[in-house]
Amino acid sequence: MGKKKNSRCRVQYLLCRVQCLFKTQHCNSLGMFLFTFHFRCPKQLLGSASVSRIPGAGAAQRRSRPGSGGAGPVPVSVPVSPGGRFDCGPERLLARADCEARGCCYIPGPGPRSGPGPPWCFFPRGYRSYRAENLTATESGFSARLRRVAAAFLPAAVDTVRLDLALETPARLRFTLRDAARQRYEVPLATPRVQGRAPRTLYGLQVSQDPFGLVVCRQRGGTVLLNTTVAPLIFTDQFLQISTSLPSQFISGLGEHLTPLFLDTAWSRVTLWNRDMAPAPHVNLYGSHPFYLVMEDDGSAHGVFLLNSNAMDVLLQPSPALTWRTTGGILDFYIFLGPDPKSVVRQYLDVVGFPFMPPYWGLGFHLCRWGYSSTDITRQVVANMTAARFPLDVQWNDLDYADAKRDFTFNKKGFRDYPEMVRDFHSRGLRYIMIVDAGISSSGPPGTYKPYDEGLKRGVFIRNATGQPLIGKVWPGPTAFPDFTNPRTHEWWHDMVKDFHEQVPFDGMWLDMNEPSNFVEGSQDGCPNNNLEHPPYVPGVFGGRLQAGTICASSQQYLSSHYNLHSLYGLTEAMASHSALLRVRGKRPFIISRSTFAGHGRYAGHWTGDVGSDWEQLYYSIPEVLLFNLFGVPLVGADICGFAGSTSEELCVRWTQLGAFYPFMRNHNDHGTRPQEPYSFSPAAQAAMRSALHLRYSLLPFLYTLFHRAHSAGETVARPLFLEFPTDPNTWAVDRQLLWGGGLLVTPVLEAGQTKVRGYFPAGTWYSLAGVSSPGAVCGSCPSPAFDSTIHSKGQWILLPAPLDTINVHARAGHILPLQVSPLTAQSRSKAMALVVALTPDGFARGDLFWDDGDSWETFERGDYTEILFLASNDAVLSQLLRASPHLDGILLEAVTVLGVTSPPRRVLANGAIVSDFSYRSDTQVLRVPVSLPMWEQFVISWS
Ligand code: NOJ
Repeated sequence: MGKKKNSRCRVQYLLCRVQCLFKTQHCNSLGMFLFTFHFRCPKQLLGSASVSRIPGAGAAQRRSRPGSGGAGPVPVSVPVSPGGRFDCGPERLLARADCEARGCCYIPGPGPRSGPGPPWCFFPRGYRSYRAENLTATESGFSARLRRVAAAFLPAAVDTVRLDLALETPARLRFTLRDAARQRYEVPLATPRVQGRAPRTLYGLQVSQDPFGLVVCRQRGGTVLLNTTVAPLIFTDQFLQISTSLPSQFISGLGEHLTPLFLDTAWSRVTLWNRDMAPAPHVNLYGSHPFYLVMEDDGSAHGVFLLNSNAMDVLLQPSPALTWRTTGGILDFYIFLGPDPKSVVRQYLDVVGFPFMPPYWGLGFHLCRWGYSSTDITRQVVANMTAARFPLDVQWNDLDYADAKRDFTFNKKGFRDYPEMVRDFHSRGLRYIMIVDAGISSSGPPGTYKPYDEGLKRGVFIRNATGQPLIGKVWPGPTAFPDFTNPRTHEWWHDMVKDFHEQVPFDGMWLDMNEPSNFVEGSQDGCPNNNLEHPPYVPGVFGGRLQAGTICASSQQYLSSHYNLHSLYGLTEAMASHSALLRVRGKRPFIISRSTFAGHGRYAGHWTGDVGSDWEQLYYSIPEVLLFNLFGVPLVGADICGFAGSTSEELCVRWTQLGAFYPFMRNHNDHGTRPQEPYSFSPAAQAAMRSALHLRYSLLPFLYTLFHRAHSAGETVARPLFLEFPTDPNTWAVDRQLLWGGGLLVTPVLEAGQTKVRGYFPAGTWYSLAGVSSPGAVCGSCPSPAFDSTIHSKGQWILLPAPLDTINVHARAGHILPLQVSPLTAQSRSKAMALVVALTPDGFARGDLFWDDGDSWETFERGDYTEILFLASNDAVLSQLLRASPHLDGILLEAVTVLGVTSPPRRVLANGAIVSDFSYRSDTQVLRVPVSLPMWEQFVISWS
């Protein structure tokens, strides 16, 4: 075998060299062409005789062509281009002899031997690792046994892998690869149970038997979306690898990382292993979301989710291709066929869960700082906000409130009147949230700290190798870590939350340090020396070891080892907190957590951690927020003005303007840095911040409705442009702008010293919302020239004026936005409403409003809400009550602003009555209609 491989590599080497001499590009394209040619989903294969064995999916069993497997000769005309090489030495750099002993090709260069670039030692095409046997039709698809046919080069190779493939829905297929002989750890995430198989799927399938590989393509057009035949499957106990080609280099997802919206396919590595880490590029951060979305050339999109929680690397390379390398569990893949990117997101959320519905107050402004060291100071902050006329809905405290930094305690010095302070806030309509850390202080004498005593008694802590609670070190000193995979821990957590809530009636929980973070490596006693602590392959985790910054990988949890469960820590804590808060408060839980995993959005939101107060982090916050929306965690935001380091006035103004469009808007600051509450800046800066905040508050009914759509239909709230305009490739990489829903485009300034900003405007009409920011500007009598700049775009980059007091926000023609007039806090949701109607050139627009009491649990599920559809056409706008409830009673519609009215109306009617004080400006084509109509009844406003 070695000999054959060597001669095959030599031919490839020569071919490549010869072609590279002329042009590397040529080498690339030849390789790709020949390869994809063989593996397209050609009709004759999909319709072949074996379809009857796997009916319904257009699936076909593809026998290996004679000579295509590693055992036989590979067609010599298939060279491996440098960009298409798959590394044959994942765990270490191999010298030529070791490389060739694995049956791999060794070709030095181009590029360095280690680090990003084409590997020197790589698999030849058709390298045999597993052979598929016994392909059998099942109720949901088919199964097969994959028998290992290659010598293993990593320990504990699995001899027989079981493949199960299910055609779950027309747009979703799932396949799992498990050890056929032994039960392995699987992620304990409840995913949909599907019976039978979907008819008329969007996908076609091919199975290559020897070597084993799977090809998934679109039935329509035949684009290959997934092709695992490009490199061998490796399945060992602690190293599982599978590769696929990608149909384009536009790949997004794979969080949590500080990256642009689309990832770099020029040899980059994305590591997933939750970690307390101040956000920086190229390192694993607080969360793991092994889900990606690819834009295909024609604007279609598909997604792939690997349901696996082990430490992993995902490698991207230029051919383009992707390799998953994980250190345990099984390979459990979901493929989503879209075909448009919005559908891909919804299909992903069908699997991991739709987001929770936040309370209305949670969408207001939140203020926090590490260093509000007493109730007096915290009260003063609130008083300053009120005095400076800034809206504020939720006041927070960091660790300062706690006694010796221990959860569920408060310090009786600076915070002796803590419960009264929270009650005072409530009486003013404010809500209150405090931090809760994952580690439970373990150092006090027995009987002095109930959470630990009780936790010990109930056996809720993660255990070390000797079966004792593992003790690490966090803010309070020595700490134990609750095991949230244990149902007993949920009960204990509930009891602690309840006890504390009885003393301090807080409204939500801020879950911090829950990767879990640990200031000593592993534990105070180190970690055992075993294969979980030192696996044969260690992904590119920051610190180089799995225990770095966290607890021992081999510590024991109720469901499995921490090695398997580590990245689920934040998710499981969020689940426990969600149900505890619900039981204790009886209202919609509000939780913000630092550590996340796929499915987190069902229970909690996320803030992006310890971002620095600098312009680069301001920019990165946009792709972060957009990505978390793709991950189904729409309630997300970065610390406004930055957390670490001192902000500047200009940065803080720009950050507040952008932050007004984070779905979760909180200004939070580190201790010891310059103050950054909005009132701590110059009058001009305050005015700019105030107007951004008022703009957000005006738009809360629209934002709340978007959250409802996320909760009930799996939509995104903050949305990348490509989701709305997938067929315009110019939008794909736009990550310096964001949309709210489909109707509002935000173009912030992200650089110092700029008074202009360039933004991309997809084809269509866009109306500037300048003017809504001043309270009352939506009123009919308002003289200010709002909506004064309308963009008719053919799909263009446009330079916009952006003085420091301005954030550019544009309504998209075709949308109707429900607004609140002159709001001060989310409490003013009982005030009057207004509508902004952004007409298309043919006079059409639509929008909706979801309204309930803003706080009760499952109002949508119980049908206790109002839903209104707004429609504009033929010179009229009307409302249609899709569902009525008393929650809108008493709320009036006070103003309707219609944008894009091309000729001056002579007469305006509201429910048939003449409106005499309407105004119209022909230069801006804005019609303002002051009205006083019950929102809870249907209305028609017309003009002629
Ligand atoms: C780390 C968190 O990321 C930060 O927001 C918080 O202020 C500190 N811990 C102190 O609790």
